[in-house]
Formats: sequence, C-alpha cells, structure tokens
Amino acid sequence: MTTASRMSGLSLKTLREEARHCRACHLWKNATQTVFGEGPQNAQMMLVGEQPGDKEDLAGKPFVGPAGLMLDRALDEAGIDRRKVYVTNAVKHFKFLPRGKIRLHQKPNTPEIKACRQWYERELAAIKPVLVVAMGATAAQCVFNKITPINKNRGRLIDLEDGIKALVTVHPSYLLRQPDADAKAREYARFVDDFRIAAATLRKSARAA
Ligand code: URA
Repeated sequence: MTTASRMSGLSLKTLREEARHCRACHLWKNATQTVFGEGPQNAQMMLVGEQPGDKEDLAGKPFVGPAGLMLDRALDEAGIDRRKVYVTNAVKHFKFLPRGKIRLHQKPNTPEIKACRQWYERELAAIKPVLVVAMGATAAQCVFNKITPINKNRGRLIDLEDGIKALVTVHPSYLLRQPDADAKAREYARFVDDFRIAAATLRKSARAA
C-alpha cells in the first residue's frame, strides 16, 4: 500500500475485498475468514475491539457473540444507535488454540497487531470519523500505535491526527469476566458512562458543524 492510497481513503467495499486475501501475518491460515469492519462509511464514530471471536469468525461479522450483546446493550443505554457506528477490530482474523471441539481465544501479540494495523489505518482514512473508541488494551495499542494503559487513559478525549478524537474504555468481555454481580453492575455502569462521553462528543461535533 502506498501512502497516497492510504491517505486518499478508498471505499470500504474495496478495502473489505482486499482484506479478504490478507496474508500480512500467519493468522489467516487457521481462521475461517477475514472479519472486516462493518457500518456506514459516513459514520461519526468508529469502535475498535480486539479480534473476532469464535462466533464472529464463523459469521464474518464483528461483535455478534456474547461480547457483542453486551456492547449493544451499553450503546443502546447511552443513546447510541449501533447501525450508525462503524464497528471493527484491531486484528481481523480469529486467533485461537484448538481444544477438542472448542476453539480457545488467544490474545494477539504485538507483531500480529502491527501487521494488521494497515487495515485500521485504511478504515480510518475511508471513514474520517469524529471519534474513535478503543475498547481494551489491544484496540488501544492499535489506535495509538503503542502500548497504552487503559486505566490511565480511560474516559477522557485524546487527540489523534486530523482533528479526530479518541476515547479509551475497557473491552466488553472484561465485563463478562467480572467475578460477581456487584462488580459486573459497577463495571457495566462505568462502560455505559464512557459511551455517554462518546455520545456527548458526537452531539457537540454535530452542533459545531
Ligand atoms: N471481541 C472482539 O474484540 N471483537 C469481536 O468482534 C468479538 C469479540
């Protein structure tokens, strides 16, 4: 990819088609398919997760499994319509360890995140959103192009290039891993609060336009 094509922002359809054949790292070998981002090209908000899970790998769509349900609920509660959001992942192939009939999720490593970043860059150039929300450590590493601690950066707007803002929050699967109902409710409320900041940012940008 040339810098020019990255900057010009090709259509998402073209990018998706190119990404189907991506061999930039080894993860394509065991995955069912590339799970590219999904949502309108004129989205004001881009949501970045870690990588497709088992359900997403089979469906070819991001965030359609249990973490996706949690995300949908939180977006809805914050007054954000998911159909207007572009939803993607830092890494576009499912990384897993086969264990009998089960495929155990494996966290992507830095070389895999770096190899896949070209797709995030090109999605960003195609969409030019007002706000990018990075959910979890892998997404934050992709968005800021360096390891970025979640707790230190969570819940505040951070400038990216070209006037785009970023917001860091936890990954929805973090909520699913909470040990008890109280912790789950507390962390879920914080997650929704982060999306309320996102919603307010979008409203402010719409008023300024
Ligand atoms: N977790 C992610 O990070 N992305 C998905 O698409 C699903 C689960």
